[in-house]
Amino acid sequence: TIKSFTRYSVLAMSLCMALGLQAQDVHLTTDAGAPVGDNQNSQTAGPGGPTLLQDSHLIEKLQRFDRERIPERVVHARGTGAAGVFQATADISDLSKAVVFKPGTTTPVFVRFSTVMGYRGSPEQARDPRGFATKFYTQQGNWDLVGINLPIFFIRDAIKFPDFVHANKPSAVTGVQDANLAFDFFAHTPEATSMLTRLYSDEGMPDSYRRMDGYGVHAFKMVNANGDVHYVKFHWKSEQGMHGIRPQDIAPSIGADWNHMTNDLYGAIKNGEDPKWDLYIQVLEPKDLAKFDYNALDDTKVWSGVPERKIGTMTLNRVPDNYFESTEQSAFAPSRMVPGIEASEDRMLQGRLFAYADTQMYRLGANYQSLPINRPLVQVSSEDQDGAMNSSGRKGEINFEPSTAREVSEDPNGRLVQTALSGTTQQQAIDKKRNFLQAGEYYRALSAQDKADLITALSADLNHVTNEGNKYTMLSYFYKADADYGTRLAKATHADVARVKSLADQLSDG
Ligand code: HEM
Repeated sequence: TIKSFTRYSVLAMSLCMALGLQAQDVHLTTDAGAPVGDNQNSQTAGPGGPTLLQDSHLIEKLQRFDRERIPERVVHARGTGAAGVFQATADISDLSKAVVFKPGTTTPVFVRFSTVMGYRGSPEQARDPRGFATKFYTQQGNWDLVGINLPIFFIRDAIKFPDFVHANKPSAVTGVQDANLAFDFFAHTPEATSMLTRLYSDEGMPDSYRRMDGYGVHAFKMVNANGDVHYVKFHWKSEQGMHGIRPQDIAPSIGADWNHMTNDLYGAIKNGEDPKWDLYIQVLEPKDLAKFDYNALDDTKVWSGVPERKIGTMTLNRVPDNYFESTEQSAFAPSRMVPGIEASEDRMLQGRLFAYADTQMYRLGANYQSLPINRPLVQVSSEDQDGAMNSSGRKGEINFEPSTAREVSEDPNGRLVQTALSGTTQQQAIDKKRNFLQAGEYYRALSAQDKADLITALSADLNHVTNEGNKYTMLSYFYKADADYGTRLAKATHADVARVKSLADQLSDG
């Protein structure tokens, strides 16, 4: 269990004991702890007169209520959280010096699952990737692995992310998601073909958070004690198996319980059926990045043919008892890493390294990392101070480093590796894009039923696209990935197959 959840109540109890206070009958109090005499009737001027401004309990109650909401996450607003542990099982000290991977180490974790585009109260069965964000409270500080349930992403450069989100979030006019807007963006984004193919398959609509895998998506660097670097990808494999909702079952599922994903997860944990995921890594030496006919640091690609090895298991065994304090205020950031794990040069990851901590300072405030759910288990000795809602407990006047008065040294173990660079600054797309290759491979590996479900689900949304040019462009991408795939989609969307084929023939998959 995560000690930090209870840290405040333990502190409060110890404080009461230190002050010689006894636990008493629980009375209703104001936020300042004074007894409340009447919580049903406002103080008024006589029986028929107006309410008095001097009723400070009423005023505080209303003021405090007026301030209950904070901004929801700009994406992944609808989520659910659970706590547990990660147990490292394999010796990968040849790859990483991170203590979290030392065999036998048990690390507390907090996981938040989510959908991406819907508002905070939206139905959980959305045609959307599922967020799978894990905070490891390690002995070297927090490590956040902020992934999703699919191994790739729609775009490969962070500069496109705000446009991608604007096109896919509810319309700026109607407040309702619109396939016309989404596919207008995707018609200009051929690199999304592979992700769209996975998203519209049954794998893209998991029937519960327990029965889906998770992926870190990007390549990361692992660094060992000698400073040797390997590139890795992380993969959570569900011990519950994977199971999707078929297209015809989605609407009934939402009708029956649109909070199903949370209820399923929490119900299982409360019943003692603690869900587990095994953590696997794929590993490449830096020189092997170049061996693929696509860019290995492109997050729209899986690393085909690279074996996976299991390095540990995560068990979720506790439902937090305060949704807001734990799940809503949890803050995951791909930039939050520990010695032994570093960022790769993946252009999407590079943008993410900035965006999360930035939004969290806006969403939660400058001191968000001191909140119990985000606070590391290790002692924090940074020189950051003050700011709104500070409760860091920092002591002493030496708030700078270096200083003769307070010896806190840098830790050479935390130094980052050096990476060789070449070339000039530039604004160029990557080489070896191969936008359609893996979409075709994925389609051809599906079973007949999975192929049929993919055609049903994807054509249903493409049929809402009224801009004919965008619709044909989309169909040409899927045709380019696989002729059978494109032909079936064209027929299901009443399109001219010959025209789709001719557009696809003009595309290159270099
Ligand atoms: C949440 C930005 C790409 C997975 C968020 C949030 C932002 C953001 C601002 C809200 C964080 C918060 O309020 O705490 C971006 C940007 C991206 C990007 C700028 C591209 C440059 C991705 C990718 C993945 C991903 C590729 C999957 C690998 C997630 C998850 C969450 C999230 C799981 C929810 C975390 C939670 O549960 O609190 N993203 N994102 N994002 N993002 Fe991204």
